[in-house]
This record gives sequence, structure tokens and C-alpha cells, in this order.
Amino acid sequence: MKIYAINGSPRKNKNTAALLQKALDGVKESVKDKEIETEIINLYDFKYTGCKSCFACKRLGGKSYGKCAINDDISAILEKVSQADGIIFGSPIYLSNITGQLQSFLERLLFPYLLYDKNYSSIAPKKMPTAFIYTMNTPKEKMDKMGYLSILKRIDGLLGNIFTKPLVMYSNDTYQFDDYSKYEAECFSEKEKADHRKIQFPLDCQKAFELGEILMNNCKDLNEVRENIDEIDDQIVKLIAKRSYYVREAANFKKDSEEVKAPKRVEKIIEKVRRLADDNNLNPNIIEAVYRNMMNCFINMELEEHSKINK
Ligand SMILES: Cc1cc2nc3c(=O)[nH]c(=O)nc-3n(C[C@H](O)[C@H](O)[C@H](O)COP(=O)(O)O)c2cc1C
Repeated sequence: MKIYAINGSPRKNKNTAALLQKALDGVKESVKDKEIETEIINLYDFKYTGCKSCFACKRLGGKSYGKCAINDDISAILEKVSQADGIIFGSPIYLSNITGQLQSFLERLLFPYLLYDKNYSSIAPKKMPTAFIYTMNTPKEKMDKMGYLSILKRIDGLLGNIFTKPLVMYSNDTYQFDDYSKYEAECFSEKEKADHRKIQFPLDCQKAFELGEILMNNCKDLNEVRENIDEIDDQIVKLIAKRSYYVREAANFKKDSEEVKAPKRVEKIIEKVRRLADDNNLNPNIIEAVYRNMMNCFINMELEEHSKINK
């Protein structure tokens, strides 16, 4: 098995590269029993252009039909990446988009497989699992307002159309320079950046590792799928039991049933878990439905508990 990480950053040992390496470590961890090779391809090591619009890849009967006809540093790379068992792309955000280098690479990798038929079907030779790691200065809460989410989701959609829908993670508010005092960087607070890096970056590394772990979780049959679900259910039930302990505790501190119902707190939790779901590639509507049901049950339990205490 061969898994590639495509580094769209010119820097080989900074945020994007570090997260890609963690994701590859996660891949290796998840398929310990199988032979697996991983490789990071640093795009800035190669001289190449984007698509030149020659359309040789779409010419009926042509010898380059379905492949990029340009012959340069990445021709062989495009070939091998197309045969990969998994691909993890990584890019810093440059001027609100992925880097030009990665954009050019994707033009060459994806466009030949995009058929100009009515459905824009894919003729990619392999539908391998994919993932995308984006890093940027912009804090998480500003991403949507800046329009980044819609731009990046379009890239994810395209990748999904050609290969498979990518697992996605964002690493925000990244530490950009080794020493902020040496650069003109008035719009950032070095202290806040350093604090964020100290606390958040290790969490992002863990998230990248987990993304790698999930990426190759291709079960061989339904039994294996169910074994995985059963194992996760064990963990979920234990966590819900722990949560219920605290809900009972809360009853001791509340004056009346209105305080037990705490509708504003419920909405805050819903808002938080929807955000978390989005961060974890889960449809927020699913988590909202699950949480509303769970919290209703817990509120009823807490009301009972509260009335027992206050008899
Ligand atoms: C040319 C350039 C343009 C950038 N544009 C943006 C931007 O539009 N939005 C943003 O949030 N960060 C922007 N950044 C910051 C990088 O996305 C961020 O520092 C990223 O984590 C760097 O990744 P690296 O450490 O892997 O190189 C830019 C950085 C550079 C060098």
C-alpha cells in the first residue's frame, strides 16, 4: 500500500508539513498489520506549470486521452499519485486560497479525469480515500466570514467528484515566523500567537493523526464494520454514563424546575456541538438531533432528581 502526502507549502518543516507528517503517522498506526509505504511530496521541489489548456487529455482517440500530456518534473508524480491507495493534500492559505503550486498540481492531476459529459463524470483509474489539511493565519471563527469555507469546500467537492470526498481539517491562527519581533507583523499579537501555538497546535497534531487513522479504515466486510461500530458504542455509552453523573450533580445546585430546564444553556450546547461536528466532518444536523434527544432525556432525569432532593 502506498499513501502520499502532497505538501503545497514551500516550507518543509512548518505547520502544513508537520500536520501532514502526523497524518501519515496516523495512517501507519491504523494499518500496523499491513505493509505500507508513505511519502511526502514537497511540490516546491519541482519545476512545473499548471494546465496549458492543450486539451490533449480530452481528445477522442488521442494518445493522451485521460492523462496530462505536459512533460515536465511532475509527469511521473501525477502517474504514481493516481495509483495511490490514499492521498492527503496539505496547503497553507495564500491570499484566500490554496497555494498556486498546489492549484497548478490539482489542475494537472484532476482535470484529465474530469469528463466533459453531462454529469462531469470521473474517469480516474482509482477512487482512493483522500484528505485535505488547510493551515492559515485566520482564526477559526473568522473563516466563514472571510469566505474561506465556501472556497475550500468547492475544492473538497471537486476532489470528491474525481476521487473520493476528502476528510478535512483546518489548522487556524498558525504561528508563521520563528521570531515575530524580527518582522513587520503589527496586526498580530506575538503573545497570543505563541499561546495559541502552545495549546492549539498539539491538539491540531493529534487531530491530523486521527484523520490519518480514519483515512484507511476500509473494512473488508460487514462484520468488520459492525465490530468497529460496537467498539465505538461501548465508548459512547461509558461517556454518556459519565455525563449523567454530572447531570445528577447539577440538580443539587438548582433552585427550581425552570433552572433545571435551562433553555439558554441547551441552545449554547447545541451551538457548540454543531461547530464541533463541522470540525469533525460530521453533518451538524445529525449531532443536533442526537443532542436534543439526549438532553431531553437528561432534563427529565434531572427534574426527577431535583424534586426528590427538594421534597
Ligand atoms: C503569500 C502568503 C499569503 C498568505 N495569505 C493568507 C491568507 O489569505 N489568509 C490566511 O489566513 N493566511 C494567509 N497566510 C498565512 C499562511 O496561510 C499560514 O501562515 C500558514 O499556516 C503557513 O503554512 P506553513 O507554515 O506550512 O508554510 C499567507 C502567507 C503567505 C506567505
